[in-house]
Amino acid sequence: MPASGTPAPVAVSAAGPDGAVPRPGPVAAPDADGPPGGIRAAGAADAPSLAALHALAFPAEKWGPDAIALMLELPGTVALQRPGEGFVLLRAAAGEAEILTLAVAPAARRRGCGGALLAAALAAAAALGALAMFLEVAAGNAAARALYAAAGFTQVGLRRRYYADRSDALVLRRDLAPIEDGPDRPRA
Ligand SMILES: CC(C)(COP(=O)(O)OP(=O)(O)OC[C@H]1O[C@@H](n2cnc3c(N)ncnc32)[C@H](O)[C@@H]1OP(=O)(O)O)[C@@H](O)C(=O)NCCC(=O)NCCS
Repeated sequence: MPASGTPAPVAVSAAGPDGAVPRPGPVAAPDADGPPGGIRAAGAADAPSLAALHALAFPAEKWGPDAIALMLELPGTVALQRPGEGFVLLRAAAGEAEILTLAVAPAARRRGCGGALLAAALAAAAALGALAMFLEVAAGNAAARALYAAAGFTQVGLRRRYYADRSDALVLRRDLAPIEDGPDRPRA
């Protein structure tokens, strides 16, 4: 996730450090009923509960309800939640998407919530026309790094001393398979 405040777009090369571009993996398109697994879209009215979840997952961060509500007003920004358990916030623009935050409450972890939210975020980004997903993760965040590696993300960048505690951020990327254009495809 970004270091603080309203995140800026990530601009990094599509290729990894070795020049290799990861192959796209399967991304399920959201169906008419929305994402599976009890996940549903969150709106500005959900900002207080999202902020509470964020505070549980990131005790050292300050993402208040107002900041989250403001982010949700930005074009192409989408929040998906499993109410009371976790949420993911992403933004898609110009063919690329970024996960701004992914938070699962400690009591809900290791039961597939993070993976389900991540899969829903990938599908939502693909449905918005993104061909690649980016994110930042603290180098020492073993749980998140394992989650993202299992989902096919690879490292494409390093931001040294990026976070307030001067720890490094890894920039990760994953290709998204294009979704056929159609009347139901949401627009970023
Ligand atoms: C990272 C986080 C979102 C994972 O959520 P979760 O609901 O526990 O994740 P899941 O149960 O879906 O786990 C999916 C896979 O991720 C990996 N994983 C998750 N937590 C892990 C841990 N503590 N240690 C090692 N691997 C872990 C495993 O591969 C796991 O699969 P498995 O359970 O079959 O072994 C959660 O720990 C969290 O909110 N952490 C604090 C906030 C954070 O770091 N967010 C990401 C910022 S970039």
